[in-house]
Amino acid sequence: MDYTSTTLFLAVLLFASAVAHDISHDSLCKSMVETKGYICEEHKVTTKDGYILGVQRIPVGRTSKTANRPPVLLQHGIFMDAATWLFNSPNKSLAFILADNGFDVWMGNNRGTISSRGHTSLSANDLAYWDWTWEQLVNDDLPAMYDYIHKQTGQKLYYVGHSLGTLLALASFSQEKLVNLTKSAALLCPIAYTGQVSSVFARAIANTHLAQHVYSLGLGEFIAGGSVAGKLQEGLCHLPPIDCSNLVSLNFIIYNLPFPKTTDLHVKFLFIGPNCCIKPSIYDVFLEHTPQSTSTKNVVHLSQMLLAGNIAKYDYGDYSENKKHYGQGTPPLYNLTRIPKDIPLFIGYGGKDLLSDVNDVKLLLDNLKDHQKDKLVLQYRDDYAHFDFVMAENAESVVYDPLLAFLRTQT
Ligand SMILES: *[C@@H]1O[C@H](CO)[C@@H](O)[C@H](O)[C@H]1NC(C)=O
Ligand SMILES: *[C@@H]1O[C@H](CO)[C@@H](O)[C@H](O)[C@H]1NC(C)=O
Ligand SMILES: *[C@@H]1O[C@H](CO)[C@@H](O)[C@H](O)[C@H]1NC(C)=O
Repeated sequence: MDYTSTTLFLAVLLFASAVAHDISHDSLCKSMVETKGYICEEHKVTTKDGYILGVQRIPVGRTSKTANRPPVLLQHGIFMDAATWLFNSPNKSLAFILADNGFDVWMGNNRGTISSRGHTSLSANDLAYWDWTWEQLVNDDLPAMYDYIHKQTGQKLYYVGHSLGTLLALASFSQEKLVNLTKSAALLCPIAYTGQVSSVFARAIANTHLAQHVYSLGLGEFIAGGSVAGKLQEGLCHLPPIDCSNLVSLNFIIYNLPFPKTTDLHVKFLFIGPNCCIKPSIYDVFLEHTPQSTSTKNVVHLSQMLLAGNIAKYDYGDYSENKKHYGQGTPPLYNLTRIPKDIPLFIGYGGKDLLSDVNDVKLLLDNLKDHQKDKLVLQYRDDYAHFDFVMAENAESVVYDPLLAFLRTQT
């Protein structure tokens, strides 16, 4: 590792420990839904590989209580959970708006998040529990939730994804999975191609192979709380590129950050881009629910995609290992041009988003260039960054009104 890489590496560590703090373990129904006057149900869905996922349901709205409501599944992004949809007041949070507009709202939580840490035989302390990437979310988590909701309601689903939640849908649809159970899909801040991600921190994580180092230390869970950041630091000192002979100064860099707690978020926003329109008063609630854990292997996989600029399966790093898993020496690519041309898609993206970079979204749209014109709705907002789409004060008029109009045209 050269000097620049090492500096970046430390910057990433600094970032990691700045965002790591204890998060709330309260049930989302109790802490974020019922408190706002809505009925909420906690459901458990078991995947075929044994993960027990928590899914929250808001079956009716405050006044809108019609029967036979169309189900919509909301699927969050990486380091987040279903709280994504609940941070603002009812009139400004997508989950509540959908419930008040006649939808039966279901909110998924990926394996490893606070609501979804159960497993039929593994514990979250086992390394094996964390042996997955977003591909398993595509192959197991999403179909299990779809199947469950379809069985409960007897209807096809509407889908709304944010960030990594969009990749799950795009990858599924490109393999013809879930297509016949989906009425339409709204994708906010799409993550597909990531070769042009402009977030310095995301690039640094990839360039320095941070996640690979973390994985080699036997840490399957990526950045859960302060204690993990501490372990991370301890372990990293045994890696050749990191000189910890001056532990005092390293400690100083990591723990005596010139950022008081409330500005953690500014560090975080360097990661995702400057959100224009989020009310500062929701930051505290936001920090109670983020960052949620993901697997280190998932971050390795996403880093591989960022470096390669493609959408490939996990690269085991050597020819024979890949051959064993895939029957070929390099990981197979997902081909998004195979997404059925008639599935209704709504894509929302922002000019200030450093993760869902406009140039990468263009590549995705290029893959969709033969999509039926009346089945593809684009919503571009110049001043929006990654979290504005789910948390902005004005998202109701900017994003949710057109999104609702889109859902309503696909009945
Ligand atoms: C929220 O929306 C409802 C119905 O549209 C309205 O009656 C209520 O006044 C709004 N509440 C706030 C705080 O704006
Ligand atoms: C959807 O397609 C899959 C596989 O093609 C099939 O097994 C399933 O029964 C279909 N579901 C519906 C609701 O048509
Ligand atoms: C993707 O699929 C399309 C249509 O089946 C095909 O023409 C194209 O060559 C494929 N691209 C890649 C990179 O495999």
